[in-house]
Amino acid sequence: MLMQRVKPLSRILAQGSDVEHGLKRSLGPWALTAMGIGAIIGTGIFVLTGVASATRAGPSLTFSFVVAGIVSALAALCYAEVSSKIPISGSAYTYTYATLGEFLAWIVGWALVLEYALGAATVSVGWSGYFNFILHTLFNLNIPQAWQHSHWDATPGIANLPAAAIIFLITALLVRGTKESGTVNAVIVAIKIAVVLFFIAIGLGHINPANYHLPPGPLAGAGGFFPFGWAGMFGGAAFIFFAYIGFDAVSTTAEEARNPARDLPIGIIASLVVCTILYIIVVAILNGMVPFYTLNVNFPVAFAVDSIGLAWAGVIISFGAIAGLTTVLLVMMYGQTRIFYAMSRDGLIPSMFVRLHPTWRTPWISQILFGVLIAAAGALFPISILGSLTNMGTLSAFVLVSIAVPILRNRHPETQGKFKVPFGPYLIPVLSAVTALFLIYFLRQGNPLVWGFFPLVWLGFVIWLVVGLIFYFSYGRHQSTIALEETAGLAIRQPPVN
Ligand code: ALA
Repeated sequence: MLMQRVKPLSRILAQGSDVEHGLKRSLGPWALTAMGIGAIIGTGIFVLTGVASATRAGPSLTFSFVVAGIVSALAALCYAEVSSKIPISGSAYTYTYATLGEFLAWIVGWALVLEYALGAATVSVGWSGYFNFILHTLFNLNIPQAWQHSHWDATPGIANLPAAAIIFLITALLVRGTKESGTVNAVIVAIKIAVVLFFIAIGLGHINPANYHLPPGPLAGAGGFFPFGWAGMFGGAAFIFFAYIGFDAVSTTAEEARNPARDLPIGIIASLVVCTILYIIVVAILNGMVPFYTLNVNFPVAFAVDSIGLAWAGVIISFGAIAGLTTVLLVMMYGQTRIFYAMSRDGLIPSMFVRLHPTWRTPWISQILFGVLIAAAGALFPISILGSLTNMGTLSAFVLVSIAVPILRNRHPETQGKFKVPFGPYLIPVLSAVTALFLIYFLRQGNPLVWGFFPLVWLGFVIWLVVGLIFYFSYGRHQSTIALEETAGLAIRQPPVN
């Protein structure tokens, strides 16, 4: 019953081509790839890598990045197929609505809100760390500790003010419009890649192979390449999976892409390939430059360069990191409101969210509302909780998008996308769903347990889902466009998914 309310594909596609009343179409393949890289390289590599090496995986974090990269690549193939067939704003949410029905689409949309909103909050905390480092190192200025940290940080404070400030700044930029922010994004993406290459060039000559095989010790665990065993390596993969989040943001821009059926798959896959290669090299070098257990700092990349006596290079890298994290924020906060745009257009959330600004043509109301909520999350919660919950939301959406691939092919053989996952409709999607679940399981590694056995991150997600379900059954279930048509006897019913 719950799965029967499917949004007809023909109508979804018609809505997307109704550009007259919709969003402006200005993005090409380069802009989309740049947008993907802009969303991907950020806090994951610049900040979380250090914590993950020191506390979870040690040098085996290199393998963690391979594992998380494989999970992301499998999902990226699925995203590429569905986004080439349904090139409409709203990403996984829209794909699910057309295949698995309104109920699961709501759950995906709700999970994506968690991904983008908390993802942006996570990045804002990383941004704040590098920002404070630069203020301190270059200008000897120090924001009081109480206003640099949340209550639950290792160094407890009151609120992380720089994190909130950057979110407000990005919100203002996005309310003004996508074209301007797209241009800013492209410039900063170039800077970000340059800084990563700069680090690789410097670090390559300073690898000490002994760092890959440290002796056992209180900080070095069992020593060697896998100091915390396979579980540590997979726990590291689940944690730094955050570093790959973002390629799916490309698919949220479908209604602003000039040729979405061709350019979305290009944008998604190209950005993921570039980032995976860079990540693996960076992490291998980082763990080779210094003993892994020294990397438990908020600025590990700059720290490693600094510790070989190149402080000036550390400062350059810090500026690049700040720029990089800014683009991630831009893309995440942009994607977030586009999903809301799609959901409210379908009547699942109140219609005020679809109202575009008369001049700027942006969904400014939801942009500002979420700006405030994200700023509050970034200011008040620690990065580890925000990051783990973001992973949880994203991986859950991955599972459902993977399932959507074979369903879409069976139900709508007439839909000709420009891209199909290789090896038939089942192998890649099933592997994608199973590996995403595998990482969800390993998110428990290093996470606080509630009642002695239930990881906090799982509990947080369950609570988020329950709130979403209450909202759906009290509002969207009755107010959605399709529900209203059903009441009027107009709706087209589809057979349930077997
Ligand atoms: N992948 C993005 C980052 O690492 C979310 O910041």
